[in-house]
Order: sequence, then structure tokens, then C-alpha cells
Amino acid sequence: MTTKKGLDIKETLNGYYQSFQRDGNPIPVNFRALVPELNKSERFTHLIHSYPAKLLTNIPYFFLATDALCPSNGIVLDPFCGTGTVLLEAILSGRNALGADSNPLAELITIVKTNYIAREELLETLETILNRAKRAKPLTEFPEAVSIWYSHSTLPQLSALQSSIIRIKNKKQKAFFELCFSSVVRKVSFADPSISVPVHLNPNRFNNNPSRKEDVEFKLRALRDVDVFDKFDSVCKVNIGRIETLKGKIDTAVKAKVIADDARHLGLPNNSIDMILTSPPYAGAQKYIRASWLNLYWLNRARIEDIKELKRHNIGREDYHKSEISECYTGIEDADCVLRQLYAEGNLQRAFLVASYLNEMKDALDESYRVLRPGGNMVMVIGNNTVCKRQFDTQNYLTSFLQSRGMHIQFKLIDDIKSYGLMTKRNKTADKISREWILVLKK
Ligand SMILES: C[S@@+](CC[C@H](N)C(=O)[O-])C[C@H]1O[C@@H](n2cnc3c(N)ncnc32)[C@H](O)[C@@H]1O
Repeated sequence: MTTKKGLDIKETLNGYYQSFQRDGNPIPVNFRALVPELNKSERFTHLIHSYPAKLLTNIPYFFLATDALCPSNGIVLDPFCGTGTVLLEAILSGRNALGADSNPLAELITIVKTNYIAREELLETLETILNRAKRAKPLTEFPEAVSIWYSHSTLPQLSALQSSIIRIKNKKQKAFFELCFSSVVRKVSFADPSISVPVHLNPNRFNNNPSRKEDVEFKLRALRDVDVFDKFDSVCKVNIGRIETLKGKIDTAVKAKVIADDARHLGLPNNSIDMILTSPPYAGAQKYIRASWLNLYWLNRARIEDIKELKRHNIGREDYHKSEISECYTGIEDADCVLRQLYAEGNLQRAFLVASYLNEMKDALDESYRVLRPGGNMVMVIGNNTVCKRQFDTQNYLTSFLQSRGMHIQFKLIDDIKSYGLMTKRNKTADKISREWILVLKK
């Protein structure tokens, strides 16, 4: 397959392999430039719902464009599927796709994003939902943790929509409208849309920038008496348009499924997967659940008291209790060397966090290895961190671990795609990721 730029992808992949086998050096690439036709306009349903640290669409598109790394009728797995970027690209390429994610919101987005429903059916149900919501008897009491995010007039409208959507019988349609509702609960809240976790919009943050300050004040005024039904209607209509772009594009014999909520327990048979393509969480990027908690609450996917438990399943989390923190190691020699230095310097907490991250990733990679068939390929997109000013070479540690399990490195690429969605620099000891590594290994 050639891209619009005339690039032969199979030959390019072969070139990377030859180059890496010759000198072992990672190859600098720019995925936006490699597949420029994907940069111009929105692609199918990828933008149907926001989510932190989504994978650049160009990456799965590129690796799935030929049968070099996965047979054209093979099964693709993303054990950290997030919003299903890989699953959608896999089914568009004619392959079956499986995913896992510990965040129930990710599961919902993946399901909706990969299923076509006819426009007329959705428009009809939308009308029913709105009519029912207008007649509904909404709740009047809400937990304080929730009510502080909305104006008094917004809360009953959200409650009315919620009770109307719950009554939809058709599962696929219900998931679609839940997803639209989830977008709306963030859009009509006082949460700053430019920050992934809910943080109150605050004009005083922009005292030095009068026009930004004015924008925020205007937004806050508009949110006080926003018409939630109207907002829901327009979000649904835009998303119905997105779903319509899938019409006739996915082979009816091909399916995408979310099969598990933990990459460490996939419940799949040994050697059953042809290719794994994934972008796992980074160490210290614990915010997926925190970013989604308001959505999860309104979607009835989690009560406020369940959020803590959901966070515990997140690899890369940071919210350990003091009593859980101790000096621990990973069995990966290069990583343990850095950990020993960090412990010796008194950085117990941060060293423990990255050690726990690696240990949890080892379990997840063991599970991926188990389900991948011999000869199958794994493509992993991952970044390095600095921890307490020391380089923490995550990609290298994970590569060493996979090699110790018997996987063979084919090549490594480096892209300067900046992935700052989750890596806010909150203190001197946690740092942003600046480059992404793409590791390609064969079982
Ligand atoms: C970098 S994001 C993946 C983004 C995805 N590629 C996309 O384009 O939307 C990492 C994902 O790993 C998930 N995750 C964290 N711990 C997990 C676990 N134990 N099992 C499965 N998924 C997990 C997070 O919820 C998050 O959605």
C-alpha cells in the first residue's frame, strides 16, 4: 500500500528493520509527515468524545495499512484501548479488533465509535429522549461534590435527560446517547475545558490577560442559564453525522469488542492474537479516572465512593497510601540501578511509584505475551520520564523485560509527537514526556 505521498509502507517498514538490525539505533520519524492525508480533516468517529492522551490516528493507520505486521484477516488487540483509536483503525482495515481498558468511560467510547447505526433511527430516538426529558420529574437533590460543578437550573435538566436515556431499550442506541450525554455533562459544567481533570473555571487566573479573563467571565455567565436540552440536541446531531461517516466502510463480518477491564487479566486463550498495537499509560499519569469521574457519575457507571476503587486498577497511578510505600525493585537491572540511586538520595515515594508502575506493566506485558501467537508482532508507543531529575528510560526497561521473555526487537522509532495531555508538571520531581518511542517486537 502506498500513501498519498507515494510512500510504500511495506518497503518503509522493511527499511526500518534493515537499518535497526544493522546498527541498533532508533530511527527518527514523523508520523504526521509519513501519512499526511490523515492530518487534513476529521477521520470517521475518532473525535466523537474527548479523552486524555489519545493516540495519534496516523500511527495505527500506518502499521495496519499492509500485511507486513499483521495478516489482512488477523485479530488485533489493544490491551490499553482508551477510546478505541486502534480498534477503529483495525476494523476499517478489515480486521477483527479486541480491546481492554480499566476506565468504563473508555469502554463506552470504544463501543460507540466502532458501531454504525442508521441516521434515521438515531434522529427518531433523539426526539423521543427530548420529549420524555421535558416531561420528566427530575431529581432535586444531588451530592455536594456534584452540585458545585453546575448552576441550579442545569442540574434538574441533566437529571431529566439521564432518566430519559436510561429508558432506551436498544443497547447500541443507548450507548450512543449515553456518550453524547457524557460530552454534555462536561460542556455545561463549570470545569475548565482546557484541562483534562475537572478544575473550576477561574477568571482570576488570567489577571494578566484581560481578553482571556473576559472570555472566561462570559463563559461563566452563559453557563448559569445554559439550555441543556438544546446543547444535548446539538451534540447528538454532530455525533450522528460522525457515525454516518462509517456507513459502508466497515465489513459486516468484522467486529470490535471490549473484552476486559484489566490488561493483566484478558481472559483470552493462549496464542490467539495476531498483533498487539497499544499505547499503555505512563508512569505518574494516574488521571484517567480523575478526568472522567463527573462523566462516570452521571452515566451511573460509578458512585462517588467507587471512584477510589476504580483508580486502584489504573496502572501508573500515584495515589498510594503512605502505609503502602516501601523500597521495592523490579528485577530489570537498568531500572533497579536508577531506583537504588533514587532510594539512596531519599526519594522513597517517587522511586516507589515508578517501581510499582514497572511491576504492574510487567504483569500486563506477560499477559500480552501469553495471548500473542508465535510470530505475532507487538507495537508499543511509550515515552520516557525524568524522575527527580534522573532519566527514567521506560522504553528501554520495557524492551529489556520483553526480550527476557523471548521477544525479538525488530526496530525502534522515535517521534517528537508531544503528549502533554496528562503530564502536568506539578512538582520538581515529576516531569513531562517529550518524545514518544514506537517499539516493534516479534514473539
Ligand atoms: C494512553 S491511554 C490509551 C489511549 C488510547 N490509545 C486512545 O487513543 O484513546 C492509556 C489507557 O490505559 C488505561 N489503563 C490504565 N490501567 C489499565 C489497566 N490495568 N488495564 C487496562 N487499561 C488500563 C487507561 O484507562 C487509559 O485509557
